[in-house]
Amino acid sequence: MPETPSETQRPAASPAAGHETIVVVDFGAQYSMLIARRVRELNTYCEVLPWDAPAERVAGLNLRGVILSGGPSSVYDTGAPFAPAWVFESGVPVLGICYGMQLLAHQLGGRVGPGSEREYGPATIARDSDSPLFSGLPRTLDVWMSHGDRVESVPPGFTSIATSPNSPLAVMADERRGYYGLQFHPEVVHTPRGKEIIRNFVEGVCGCPGNWTPGNFVEESVAAIRAQVGTGKVICGLSGGVDSAVAAALVHRAIGDQLTCIFVDNGLLRAGEAEEVVATFRRNLHINLVHVDAADQFLAALVEVTNPETKRVRIGNTFIRVFEREARHIEDARFLCQGTVYPDVIESASHGTGSAKIKTHHNVGGLPPDMKLGLVEPLRYLFKDEVRRAGEALGLPEEMVWRHPFPGPGLAIRVIGEVTPERLEMLRGADRIVMEEVRRAGLYRELWQSFAVLTDTKTVGVMGDFRTYGYAVAIRAVVADDAMTADWAKLPHDVLGRMSNRIVNEVHGINRVVYDITSKPPGTIEWE
Ligand code: XMP
Repeated sequence: MPETPSETQRPAASPAAGHETIVVVDFGAQYSMLIARRVRELNTYCEVLPWDAPAERVAGLNLRGVILSGGPSSVYDTGAPFAPAWVFESGVPVLGICYGMQLLAHQLGGRVGPGSEREYGPATIARDSDSPLFSGLPRTLDVWMSHGDRVESVPPGFTSIATSPNSPLAVMADERRGYYGLQFHPEVVHTPRGKEIIRNFVEGVCGCPGNWTPGNFVEESVAAIRAQVGTGKVICGLSGGVDSAVAAALVHRAIGDQLTCIFVDNGLLRAGEAEEVVATFRRNLHINLVHVDAADQFLAALVEVTNPETKRVRIGNTFIRVFEREARHIEDARFLCQGTVYPDVIESASHGTGSAKIKTHHNVGGLPPDMKLGLVEPLRYLFKDEVRRAGEALGLPEEMVWRHPFPGPGLAIRVIGEVTPERLEMLRGADRIVMEEVRRAGLYRELWQSFAVLTDTKTVGVMGDFRTYGYAVAIRAVVADDAMTADWAKLPHDVLGRMSNRIVNEVHGINRVVYDITSKPPGTIEWE
């Protein structure tokens, strides 16, 4: 992954500013993100750092504790990632989870060995200690295990404080230093009381008071943005999604008319969305907005394209060309505001986890180097739910703040096969009905995403006395905490029935509706 300035600089808008901070050292991005979200739920500021981040990265923080995440490695692998020295030199409490526990054992003088068999799934641990880590919890706990190696002997200063049938050393502690190792994963939902263990560590052991909230984040960001941009002009690309909307509103709160937003309407948005973006930003928020109708240019780039990755590349490239052309019209622009969020930052900085590239995502258009714009990324330390809370604090309309995630390439990856104006219109009609029925049933907030997909399959049907030959539409609705995994939503049959009736009756060219009952994994959320 090429390093951009945004990955190496700590931008001025870092919300750490003096708050008690827990650092998660990342050995596996999915684990780290979940742990960080659990800590943030306690209103404690938390940052995720790659395991090889230099000590200077923590120097400016009010560090109160460190959590070493789980990860796929074995401490005996060649080149296995280790906990950096600053962790042990900082004098703060340390919680090692799974691989993190094995690192504590291995690096501090204990012994780690391969388990006789891999332990995966639910287990029950029994504790024989009144450690503050277990404060308020029963003597036995249901937990989630997922490990191959295990700790065979504890390092000097540690004792075993809980066991499970397969892990004689399920939890180890050095109470004097506030060092703990858990063989199981307290951050996952399958460890029902795991959040309390994390709370005991963060608040009880590390003494964090829980006073970091999106409300004070907004105030502090406004000050930080002003300090970063001074009297400079800022450009911001709006996509219609939550992230760029909140980023723009935040920057506008900070610097008013120094901000100009560019909304590239690619003609691939859902019914009514382009109008809503213009209405919200221009009329409600009084933000300078350039609305570029580039639908024809995008559609021209998609003629005869059926491969999903080619669609993404063509759309990404067209976006960059259009955005660049418009940005050049804004004289003296010195900064580019982007809605980068924390999971993007963690994933691009995560080392050694080797997650396979499944789809190319083109959220953010790069700008040519000769434009030399500084980056303003006010959301780069926030998770999605925090972005939404910040959006509410900024007074953005509810429909925009709670909008389901929408892919950058838009409806182009929901029209299977070639994207034509006629097929887009068909999809828009079906998708509008899906959304209306989801909202009418009061299900919008419960779902992570819901939408229609226009397949390239034509099927035979009958309407009145006539035989029809039309396209099949698929309805997709999923529940999820984040987009890494998702379950297909158990939508009530009457809601599905209404969707199907309306789509076939109201959208010309569609004569069949199916419901996608695939979870992720093994499916992805989008069809392309
Ligand atoms: P998948 O389909 O990979 O999607 O399960 C996970 C999440 O990412 C969104 N998605 C995209 N977002 N550009 C984007 O900005 C893309 O090319 C893209 N492809 C998928 C998808 O809607 C879901 O939220």
